[in-house]
Amino acid sequence: MAARGGASAAPLRVVAVSGSLHAPSKTSALVNEILAALSRQVDIEPTLFELSEIGPQFAGALVREELPASVEEVLRAIENADLLVVASPVYRASITGLFKHLFDFVGQYALMGKPVLLAATGGSDRHALIIEHQLRPLFGFFQALTLPLGVYASDADFTDYAVSSEALHERIETAISRGRPLIRRFEPVSPHVTGW
Ligand SMILES: Cc1cc2nc3c(=O)[nH]c(=O)nc-3n(C[C@H](O)[C@H](O)[C@H](O)COP(=O)(O)O)c2cc1C
Repeated sequence: MAARGGASAAPLRVVAVSGSLHAPSKTSALVNEILAALSRQVDIEPTLFELSEIGPQFAGALVREELPASVEEVLRAIENADLLVVASPVYRASITGLFKHLFDFVGQYALMGKPVLLAATGGSDRHALIIEHQLRPLFGFFQALTLPLGVYASDADFTDYAVSSEALHERIETAISRGRPLIRRFEPVSPHVTGW
């Protein structure tokens, strides 16, 4: 993993969430490419949570208090991350319901000031603006710092669930380079204003 300045600096905790309900998954493949590209530019400790695996543990819960310890740990990892990489496949012109359900459990102020790299996959390019119209407003609600460039991939960018498009590789590198000024150790922020 790339050096990030001071020799004693701990790697940045990067937590990635793939909202796909299936395995293998193009969304998870995209997230893994993003994590690999990040690790070439920044010293990171990556963790990937896949909803295909953890979804059944929280799908039926209505409030955070009902969640099993394993999912509470996921939420804490998300809330304490230095950087989030979040990705969802497009389902019916939207993010997956389970992706939204997971983030409905995240503390309203827990992501304030946290850098978030947005990504999505779809069958075609027709729903590429899901990043701008759905993911960015969701993380805007949390007052997170969404990185300026998101990464969208369609089925044609993959071969056997691996990223095979050179243009997509370049887009990933550009999204990370443009986001670099915002990527740093996360300091929780106390909200002065409460309410919705
Ligand atoms: C239930 C369902 C709904 C979908 N709806 C859309 C859609 O509205 N627009 C789109 O571009 N792709 C849609 N797709 C295609 C997926 O978004 C696309 O294949 C995606 O890359 C799958 O990601 P995954 O392999 O990580 O599950 C849909 C797929 C499924 C299973």
